[in-house]
Amino acid sequence: MASDDLRIGVIGSGGRGWLAKHAHKPDKGARIVACSDTSAKALADARAAYGDSIFTTDDYRRLLEQKLDAVFICTPDFLHEEHALAALDCVPGIYLEKPMAITVEGCDRILLKARKKRARLFIGHNMRYMTTFIKMRTLIQDGAIGRVKSIWCRHFICYGGDAYFRDWHSERKYTTGLLLQKGAHDIDVIHWLSGAYTKRVSAFGNLSVYGSLPRRTDNQPGVRDVLAKHWPPTAQSGFSKHIDVEDQNTVIMELEGGILGAYLQCHFTPDACRNYTVIGDEGRLENLGDGPEDPIMVWNKRRSDWGGYRIIGDEVHYGGKADSSGHGGADAVIVNEFLDYVRTGCETTATPEAARMSVATGCVATESLRNGGTPMDVPPLPA
Ligand SMILES: NC(=O)c1ccc[n+]([C@@H]2O[C@H](COP(=O)([O-])OP(=O)(O)OC[C@H]3O[C@@H](n4cnc5c(N)ncnc54)[C@H](O)[C@@H]3O)[C@@H](O)[C@H]2O)c1
Repeated sequence: MASDDLRIGVIGSGGRGWLAKHAHKPDKGARIVACSDTSAKALADARAAYGDSIFTTDDYRRLLEQKLDAVFICTPDFLHEEHALAALDCVPGIYLEKPMAITVEGCDRILLKARKKRARLFIGHNMRYMTTFIKMRTLIQDGAIGRVKSIWCRHFICYGGDAYFRDWHSERKYTTGLLLQKGAHDIDVIHWLSGAYTKRVSAFGNLSVYGSLPRRTDNQPGVRDVLAKHWPPTAQSGFSKHIDVEDQNTVIMELEGGILGAYLQCHFTPDACRNYTVIGDEGRLENLGDGPEDPIMVWNKRRSDWGGYRIIGDEVHYGGKADSSGHGGADAVIVNEFLDYVRTGCETTATPEAARMSVATGCVATESLRNGGTPMDVPPLPA
């Protein structure tokens, strides 16, 4: 092995753990040397992909003994805190998938330990690396709509019934709720685009479709097949035995600087998109689709006395394609930035502090919706 390759491990190498393939560049600076997963098939797949000589184990603690320079933690949400705290004892660079943890206290324990250890902790908020949202942020920062005053996100999820009501995602004890599980990304983007964190929330949510559909009687994880033919949701079956998370959520947010926000999430739509509307004191910005070739409209002229809704904006922009990796090219870009960060400690686009604030907002909003929409303060970052 080239002596200067970063030695990289992956905890949870199946599923989202395949993101780490973008870090496998043998003799070119980094390579996967160890994988841990509780699934034997995931480990066999990892050996096939990264080579038979890699260390594989079903016990993440053994993986952490492998003198690693960096580790990807891509296990289910409820394991993030345990795995990150253990990794912080012995690995200098940590890529932790979103959400950072499923409680505010969990995030703060990770954040404080990372500071104490001077670790290079990085959270996988890959939406910050999607060209659509980079372009929207650049337009806002360049003054296309003046100063941001309102920011709303409508989040349509057509694969809700396939991906979130069949396994660990469907239980509060493993996720806190889907408002946090899925919304962690969008709350972070709301903060990033507006340049402000949420201070106070009021939320409503319920289990309005999947709660009454046919469930399995066993406790085994269900099959997570994301297929177009799974429509309509009311004709589907095989859902988890235990479901206590909501399938639609609405959050009203008061952000710093008098900005108001809203995040609306629905798990039973026919299509999938994150549609952001950002309104400033000199215009409005909206993405119609969140793919690299989908338009971003800017309306910043008033063209009629009384109204006249215009579908096409005064300006039309596009994020553009980054490369062919997942999430519109964002996955390879975020992994490359993580590797640079591990090597140099450079500034990063995603930060653990921002990730903590998105979890804090998602957790407090979930508490609010389970308490009749009571307005609640979001705890600020620890000193
Ligand atoms: N940023 C993104 O775009 C994005 C996309 C998908 C998932 N995610 C995040 O990635 C994480 C994993 O999601 P997923 O859908 O791949 O979940 P998953 O249920 O498929 O689990 C991922 C892998 O972890 C393994 N695993 C479970 N328990 C383990 C343990 N104790 N030790 C080692 N391995 C273990 C599983 O066998 C599986 O191979 C979640 O936190 C999710 O929020 C992020």
